[in-house]
Amino acid sequence: GVTVACSREEAEKALEDMMVSRVFGESGSQVVIEEFLAGQEMSILAFVDGETVRPMPAAQDHKPVFDDDKGPNTGGMGTYSPLPHIDDAIIQKAIETIVEPTAKAMVSEGRPFRGILFAGLMISPDGTPKTVEFNARFGDPETQVVLPRLKSDLLEIFLAAVDGRLADIEIEWSDEAAVCVVLASQGYPGSYPKGMPISGLAEAGQEGLIFHAGTALGSDGSIVTNGGRVLGVVGLGAGIAEARNAAYANANRISFDGKQNRTDIAAKALQ
Ligand code: GLY
Repeated sequence: GVTVACSREEAEKALEDMMVSRVFGESGSQVVIEEFLAGQEMSILAFVDGETVRPMPAAQDHKPVFDDDKGPNTGGMGTYSPLPHIDDAIIQKAIETIVEPTAKAMVSEGRPFRGILFAGLMISPDGTPKTVEFNARFGDPETQVVLPRLKSDLLEIFLAAVDGRLADIEIEWSDEAAVCVVLASQGYPGSYPKGMPISGLAEAGQEGLIFHAGTALGSDGSIVTNGGRVLGVVGLGAGIAEARNAAYANANRISFDGKQNRTDIAAKALQ
């Protein structure tokens, strides 16, 4: 439901769509208008139990539907982690000035948060992290590139969060890189057809990780499309270039009518 408006006309059109044409139904009866933030996207997910914040490795999402960040925003067309082109100091600054104070503030307001806190950030050209949004959940498709890098037992981390022991446990991450390419239906994020048979899944599943998002079982037991974002195809490798090649090689093994995906996921990390 977000429109990044680059002109007054685009902003007025978005308001008319939401509040007059009601393209998002009742959800569009209230809108939030915010400052435009330029820069690099960064998502920081963290395990939180009250004041203890255990950040996961940073990931970068690609919200616009088309290459070069063109077209309308989506839930996310692809991700990668780690972010070799963003200084560790900037990531640390985002944790220390945004994520940790947020957890602390919730404690001091008497509403301690326990769970996954997800900060959607923009790193402005001068290196300042700014907040776009918070979610009290894992990110999609951020999780697809973060959790495959987790070497520790996820259940132990969840139990430690529940018991308030997050400060006492070791959480280990792999140095491997992960890249996720989202395969979407034609027309997404607008209206799109459903029920398109998907081929190549078995072969692709042997080569790498495939996460189902908008799929369903067809009447003959085959797997068909059933959503805007259909599949998340993840490649792993020693670095971003290797992981990216693996993800795209596997994404190309899968086909369905109207399949669309960005071809520049993680390109910023390699420039
Ligand atoms: N990828 C953005 C989100 O999960 O909200």
